[in-house]
Amino acid sequence: MKLMERFRLAHLTLRNRIVSTAHSEQLAVNGLITPHLEGYHLRRARGGAGLIIAFGSASVSATAANRFNPALWDPENEPALRRMADAAHAEGTPLIAQATHRGAREVIADPDQEHVAPSGGAGFLPSGTPRVLNKEDIASLVRDYADVARRLHRCGWDGIEVTAYGTHLLEQFWSPVLNRRDDAYGGSPENRLRFGSEVLRAVRDAVSGDFVVALRMSLDTRTRRLGLSRDDLLDIAGHYDELGVVDLFDVVGSSSVTADGAVGTVPTADYPRGVYRELAARARSRLRAPVLVAGRVLDAEQAEDVVTSGDADLVGMTRAMIAEPRLAAQIHAGTAELARPCISINEGCRRVGASLTLACSVNPEVAHPELAETPLPVDPAGAGRTVIVGAGPAGIEVARVLGRSGLAVVVLEQDDSVGGGIGYALLADPHQVRQYRRWAERALSEHGVEVRLGTRATPSVVASPTLERVVFAGGSSPALPPWLESAHYEVRTDADYLAGAWEPAHDSDVVVYDPEGYSAGSVIALRLARATDRKVTLVTPLGSAGGQVETPNRIRLTKGLLRSAVRVLPYTELIRTDDSKLFLRNVVTKDTTELDAGSTVLGCGYRSPDEEQLVSLRAACPHADWHVVGDASSPGLIRHAVTGGSRLAHDILRRLGTG
Ligand SMILES: Cc1cc2nc3c(=O)[nH]c(=O)nc-3n(C[C@H](O)[C@H](O)[C@H](O)COP(=O)(O)O)c2cc1C
Ligand code: SF4
Repeated sequence: MKLMERFRLAHLTLRNRIVSTAHSEQLAVNGLITPHLEGYHLRRARGGAGLIIAFGSASVSATAANRFNPALWDPENEPALRRMADAAHAEGTPLIAQATHRGAREVIADPDQEHVAPSGGAGFLPSGTPRVLNKEDIASLVRDYADVARRLHRCGWDGIEVTAYGTHLLEQFWSPVLNRRDDAYGGSPENRLRFGSEVLRAVRDAVSGDFVVALRMSLDTRTRRLGLSRDDLLDIAGHYDELGVVDLFDVVGSSSVTADGAVGTVPTADYPRGVYRELAARARSRLRAPVLVAGRVLDAEQAEDVVTSGDADLVGMTRAMIAEPRLAAQIHAGTAELARPCISINEGCRRVGASLTLACSVNPEVAHPELAETPLPVDPAGAGRTVIVGAGPAGIEVARVLGRSGLAVVVLEQDDSVGGGIGYALLADPHQVRQYRRWAERALSEHGVEVRLGTRATPSVVASPTLERVVFAGGSSPALPPWLESAHYEVRTDADYLAGAWEPAHDSDVVVYDPEGYSAGSVIALRLARATDRKVTLVTPLGSAGGQVETPNRIRLTKGLLRSAVRVLPYTELIRTDDSKLFLRNVVTKDTTELDAGSTVLGCGYRSPDEEQLVSLRAACPHADWHVVGDASSPGLIRHAVTGGSRLAHDILRRLGTG
């Protein structure tokens, strides 16, 4: 495979063309690199990545101190930087740091700091009106970039990635809309590019030739609000290429000047796979320096196609490697089918947008390093037999982790396929969800786990005296509150609809009540409104539809709802029903209104564990060690189920190991 061939990048020889691109991990504490952050990237290096670009949006300047990303200006980080470089090199992976100043887009933690920008009045950036950078500020920032390059080089790092992407300060300078200066840094295209030129030259001059200088930039901002066309952006790339100081162009699309554009910087599942390849191909045909592209490249075949087609020299598989840090090594070994697929749901990783630490729905080790992929040493012979009831995300994870340590495990699943609640990951990529099911089957079989599909756990099945432990991961069932029931209109649940057990009549209006705020209410409302011209009303006590969904997918849902005929009533709770009416109360104003119930009320998010089954099974096998996990314990997100499953399995193994 060309993907796995070596690649010469400036002075470096990469062992393959797979790159982990920069992503803000939010794992630093007060700007300092933590062991958690060090270990996180080390796993990618161990997993065979060709190149790691660490630290999304790490700050070059004390004037822009987002404390959750590493402060690259802070000398206190040097010991950790050295350890990271040494560890990655020992595994054969070069390490580059993304370094930036976000200007008016900075997330500032320090109350004494201010937002800065090329010009004032850049009011549509989230920060309001920033202070205008003067010439001394600009010179000082250029020095900051150079100092950071020197620090990285001194600590053994292989390069720096200067970034404009996401409407960071460089892009703010390029934009004739945001940059209205009349000095040497504004006005003509050449002037607007000057700050970037000075930064790139300064980092190049600060270090010797054995240091990669990469530039990350969007080649299609997908908005008119920056005043930068696709051709302008290609010319900007061409300009910096001609300076001869850039070793690698990291090409992407979109921008962060609008909420919708920000979604495209970490594209959600509704974006096409390989969404920015075409931009990379444009860049590659124009630029001398090699080109890297990222954006929904999710598996080996796709990545191979990117490099063999000539669209790019290197390919980012960032979320693919958040989900499976061993991906490159598995592709190399010809075992890519054992790579745990990213399901493109953004549920865990996009927490960082709310300054929460990085997590992953399918890979619990991202947020919980103690739930490591290394098998814990136990004596399988003395561990006894384990039965797991339910092959949803939690059951799969318990079975996989126990099976990996050699325990005898049987999984009972009443459906005819594994996956359970993963089927309700409505914002995920359906193709990736199918891949996840396949991966789970293979992983379980690889670890010798016996999966009995189409087998409902009954008391007689678990009533075995030789059974050591039972893990009940039977999921949850819809459970509407009694007051929502009424004889005069139909009341259904999201689960009824999603399981295909119920579809409203074509002429029937529907009120979707979504007190939960995850994806189900909005997605179902959209589907119902799309199917016919029935009236669909979405009622939620939260401030917006899908109010609990992470920002990019919430924007995706909001966009869909605004373009649809669904009537959304935010900040509204359903307080009571009678024969024909729903009584609503605005949670802010306390005003009450009535709504004709229409033909159907659909309640979303009401679920409770299936206790009846658990009680009957437990009674049949009282001697076994019983555990309840996943939705059967507390209904939640996929991430919660997978993490709960992994944690339980690790606890069992630790007890077996020490007991
Ligand atoms: C959690 C997360 C945070 C990100 N933060 C940054 C960032 O700080 N800087 C940046 O240039 N890109 C950032 N990205 C974008 C990625 O580098 C990459 O372009 C994007 O995830 C698309 O690639 P993928 O589909 O292979 O994940 C982030 C991505 C994720 C998932
Ligand atoms: S949280 Fe979802 S989108 Fe993000 S890496 Fe994990 S599986 Fe992929």
